[in-house]
Order: sequence, then C-alpha cells, then structure tokens
Amino acid sequence: MICIPITSRTNKEALHAIERSCPLADFIELRMDLIGRGNLAKLISTIRDNSGAVKIIVTCRKKDEAARAGVAARIKSAVKSKEEKLALLKEAIELGADFVDIELAEGNKAINELKSLCAKKGGKSKIIISYHNLKETPALIELKEIFNQCAKYKPAIVKVVTTARTVEDNLITLNLISHARKRSQKIISLCMGGKGGISRAIAPFMGSYLSFATLEREGQSAPGQYTVYEMNQFQEWFNGRRTETLVPTLSLRKSLPKNYVLLGNPVGHSLSPLMHNAALKKMGIDENYSAFCVQDIGGAIDGLRGMNIRGASVTIPLKVAVMEYLDEVDEDALEIGAVNTIVNNNGRLAGYNTDWLGLIITLKKALTIKNKTFVIVGAGGTARAAAYGIIKEGGHPVIVNRTMEKAKNLSSKFGCSFYLLSEIGRIKGDCLINTTSVGMYPDVDKSPVKIETQARYKYVMDVIYNPLKTKLLADAEKQGCHIFPGLDMFVHQGAEQLRLWTGKEPPRALMKKVISERLTQIE
Ligand code: ATR
Repeated sequence: MICIPITSRTNKEALHAIERSCPLADFIELRMDLIGRGNLAKLISTIRDNSGAVKIIVTCRKKDEAARAGVAARIKSAVKSKEEKLALLKEAIELGADFVDIELAEGNKAINELKSLCAKKGGKSKIIISYHNLKETPALIELKEIFNQCAKYKPAIVKVVTTARTVEDNLITLNLISHARKRSQKIISLCMGGKGGISRAIAPFMGSYLSFATLEREGQSAPGQYTVYEMNQFQEWFNGRRTETLVPTLSLRKSLPKNYVLLGNPVGHSLSPLMHNAALKKMGIDENYSAFCVQDIGGAIDGLRGMNIRGASVTIPLKVAVMEYLDEVDEDALEIGAVNTIVNNNGRLAGYNTDWLGLIITLKKALTIKNKTFVIVGAGGTARAAAYGIIKEGGHPVIVNRTMEKAKNLSSKFGCSFYLLSEIGRIKGDCLINTTSVGMYPDVDKSPVKIETQARYKYVMDVIYNPLKTKLLADAEKQGCHIFPGLDMFVHQGAEQLRLWTGKEPPRALMKKVISERLTQIE
C-alpha cells in the first residue's frame, strides 16, 4: 500500500497537496513538523472529504529523526517542543486520525499517554512506534533489539527506517521484515538514501505494511523516495506484468474496499470524490468513491471487473473509448455516443450517460422544454448530450460552432440547423447554452459570445462550473436573463449516477453545497 507524505511549507499548500494525493494514496502521512502553521482539524477533514478510503497518519518527527530530503531549510523553523508535539498527537487522536506515529525515543511516559488516550477513544486511532536512523543501518542484531523494544508496547505497527551506506544494508532492513512477520507484528521497514532504493522497491513484496512515495520528485520527505508512478511500475514488473501503459494504483490498492471510482486523465482536480463521498455518507451508505488516473482504459476496465467495483464515473478523454469494453450500453448513451457512468451488475458492466439528464433536470427547474428553441454553442460531446436531451423532451436545438465540420455532423445526426459562431447575431431562441470551455478557469474574463447576444434570450445556461458564475452568466444577468449555472448540471449528473448505483435518491442540495463551498474557497 502506498503512503504519500504531505510535507508542504504552508497549510494552504498542504490542502492542495492532499487533494492531489487522495486519488493515488492508500495512506496520507501529515508531517506536522514540516507543515508551517498546520491546521490539523482542517487537514484531516479535507482528507476525509476527498476520500472515505484513505487512512491518515499524523506524525511530528523529532529533529534528530527527521529526514532532510529537500526540506533541510525547514527543519529548524518547524521543530515543536516535546509538550507541543504530544499535545498535537493527542489532538490527532481526538480528531479520529487512523494512526499517530511516535518515536521510541520519546519514551515510556509519552507513548503510554497516547496509548491510553487511544483506548479511551474506543481504539479508532492506533499507534505506530518508530525508529529512524539518519546516519547508518545498525547490525541486524541491534535492529532486532530496537524492534523488540518497539513491539513491547504492542503498537499497531512498528516502523524501523535506517540509512543505507552500502547496498548490503538493504538486506538488513528486509530481513527485519521477516523477523517481524514471524512474530505477527506489522512492520514498515526500509532504508533511506541513494543506496536504499532496493529496499524501498522490494519491502512491499516482503510484507512491509506500506511504502512511502511522492507525487513528484521535489515532494520527497526522505532521501531515496520514489514517486507513486515508479512504485506502481515496480509492482507491475515484479508481478511479471511488464507493460508500458499502467493503471496507476488500481493494482496496488487491492486490499482496500473500493466501491465506486472515477476513471479519467487527468483526475487530480476532480471534485467528484468530494461530492460523491459527501452524498454516500449522508445516505448512510458505508462505501467510498475514489479517483483513478487511467492511461489504459482496457486495463482499467479489467481492474473494475477483477476488483468487483460497483460502479464508475467516466470522464475526459475516455467517454467514447470506454464503450467497446462494456457488456452493454443503454440506448440513450448509444445515441449520444458517449458513456459517463458504468454500473456493475454482478459482473456485467453496463454503460449509461447521465450528462444529458443533468442538463435536462437543470433546465426543467425553470422552464418547459417542449416547443422551445435552444441555441447550443459548441459541437463536441457535451453539445451532443444537450441536443439529444432537448429533442427527447420535445424542444428544438440549433447548433452554433466556431468551425463548420463538427457542427454539420452534429446537426445532420439530430436533424437540426447549424450556424457558424460568427453568425450568432442572426439567430434567436428561448435559451442559449454554452458547451464550450470558453470562460473556464483560469480564462475567467472570456465569454463565447458578446454581451448584446444574451439580450436575445430569456434563459442562458453555461455548463462550466468553475468559476461558479462565468462571464457569460454575469453578462446575461445584467441583460435580465434567467441564468442556469453549470454547477447545477454537474450536481444532477452526479446524483443520477448515484441513483443508478444505489437505487436511492441522493441529497442533491448537500452535493451542491459541498462543491460550491469548495469552489468559493478556491476562488
Ligand atoms: P466536450 O466533449 O466537453 O464538449 P469537445 O468535444 O472538445 O469537448 O468540444 C468542444 C467544443 O467547444 C467544440 O465544438 C469546439 O469548437 P471546434 O469544433 O471549432 O473545435 C468548441 N470550442 C473550444 N474552444 C473554443 C473557443 N475558444 N471558441 C469557440 N469554440 C470553442
């Protein structure tokens, strides 16, 4: 299992790193000795919001046991007194962190205090007792003695990390893993440093409880750490599946329950995990939703089947490519030519499209679609879903696009008229819908049409939800139009996915609230 340490300089950067790490990690370690002015409660709740599955380790490393890869400058400023550190670890237990990591060297009193607080809190948080040697790897006999001292406290996990001065030092820490396993004690053991790479790569195969990896090379919390991508590559190679294309972490995370996943590339900034996990929790469903960055859609679908995942969301750029790997595709998705939702019916994978439903549900909140004219800007996948839904509800779509070819194809598929974007001033309709990415963050000052254009419409919709109010919508509001923000469509397409997966009505208002709060924070 992969643990990504968060070593950011500031709380804000740490929150950002957490969002990026959650889709890829099994564990996140909060290095509170490095995160300047770290707000533990906020950091923990952000991890929980992003993933119901990722386990949290809180640690505040002693100065003489804190590795210094790329963070040397910060070691001094972030050092906390022993009292402060103990208070912080206690706070972590109060906040329900899954693990707190304390060094053996902190002594009996501190360790026992943490142990009894864990017990008092019902055992939700567990203890890791650790030993780090930044200079060398002691002889095996010495390491076994250190291990025994740690194990005496009966912690959930013993962690013994040393520095490799020779390649042979790797064998010592790997040996310690076998020693611990024979005693049924969970252990994390490896060597740091340039010569310690072998143990980092092999320790997971020997039974080390987890291994540390970083998102990027510069985020290393200890010398010699590999990236998540590299750790996945080792996994593939050592399992005999030496391929060029990988499905990062799907194979590594087999031991965690996974119920729903997002497949896409990139997925790092996706807000779907936040929205779906909040909804599942509110619905009283003890399941989780995580994001996976996919490079090989066929492999990812095999992973879905193999791990018996209940359902998946599919996003850019896989919505079309995924179709050929499914056992069945529902009629709406076939007509639209794209799948954004997969349901696993006892091993048979069925594809659906809820994008069009998200749009239609949003429109129907304020207008009757039948017999109205909808001018759709753009001619890509989203425009296709919009045109399909509008026709299904008895409305009339008109396609307007920057270039001719896609607009022509789309209009001939649905038997509607089309215009070039430069001609939009000639058209009139009831509702204008933007499906292009013009105006999306960071290009928030752009709009696909001039402000006068909106005056020709009573209703204006944008499918973009970041920013919450695009320039198109702000201009439309000035012209007195009724506006539909893209967030509503995003929430409804997600809610319809949850309905397909669970058969229950999801809490749409809550889903909208968590996303708009997050976007407001970002803005
Ligand atoms: P999606 O699947 O999200 O709809 P897409 O298939 O890439 O995305 O389609 C994007 C649409 O937005 C296209 O119709 C594109 O116009 P072209 O067909 O001329 O490429 C349109 N689009 C993208 N950027 C645009 C811009 N700067 N101005 C106007 N239209 C734009």
